[in-house]
Amino acid sequence: MNDSTRSCPSICRIWTSSIGRKMLVALTGIVLTLFLAGHLAGNLLVFVGREAFNDYAEFLHHMLHGAGVWIARILLLATLVIHVAATISLTRENRAARNAYEHKAVIQAKKSSLIMIWSGLTILAFIIFHLLHFTVRVSYNDVDFVDPLDPERFDAWRMVIVGFTNPLVVLFYIIAMSLLCSHLSHGVQSMFQTLGLRSKKTAGLLDKLSLGYAWLIWLGFVSIPVAILIFKFGR
Ligand code: HEM
Repeated sequence: MNDSTRSCPSICRIWTSSIGRKMLVALTGIVLTLFLAGHLAGNLLVFVGREAFNDYAEFLHHMLHGAGVWIARILLLATLVIHVAATISLTRENRAARNAYEHKAVIQAKKSSLIMIWSGLTILAFIIFHLLHFTVRVSYNDVDFVDPLDPERFDAWRMVIVGFTNPLVVLFYIIAMSLLCSHLSHGVQSMFQTLGLRSKKTAGLLDKLSLGYAWLIWLGFVSIPVAILIFKFGR
């Protein structure tokens, strides 16, 4: 056993090997991809109405006596941090290796990894804005947003309706959602590759599956601000 192996237990060796980091990106990617589907399903309740949406928001906040939402937040944050850190570290490593040997295919790969990193960073900025918007609720107070059906609780449904009456906010959401879905479609494709599920035979089907999933998530998320702003849904 050499010095570096002795000082680095197996858990940290996952990080020091590039295969280990690729696996971490794929596994955390699966969690984030599934979170998006779950979050979208919950958000689409906005179309069912105030009661359904506020019941859902109340359930999230009272799960496991209020501990559930915090457990989910911590797990989600840890997943996101590992996903971003491993991606940045792999990109840096690839860039260093490529500097030594550049040709057309390498330049193409460099371009798509640059797109992935920039779309990833915009999504990160969106998440910070989104958390301030709907989780910290910087511009909504509990007094003006009381649920008329149950005065004991916050009217999350009206918060979403009011949140999307500003065209600039809607535009930012649409841009972020589009980048997110382009990131998602590339990400799901590479996830299959890393997990060894992509072969010449399955590549076509898996690419269609990734693209279809990304489009479905895009349509679902974009339908909410667009319906509220343009079709005045809820007003
Ligand atoms: C039209 C699109 C979206 C709507 C209407 C929406 C709505 C909401 C609402 C209402 C909350 C607050 C939940 C609560 O605390 O009661 C929330 C939280 C959150 N959303 Fe979204 N969301 C949208 C898109 C997204 C996207 C695309 C992502 C991921 C990139 C995302 C990630 C999150 C996260 C991480 C939270 C924090 C959960 C928490 O700790 O409370 N959302 N969203």
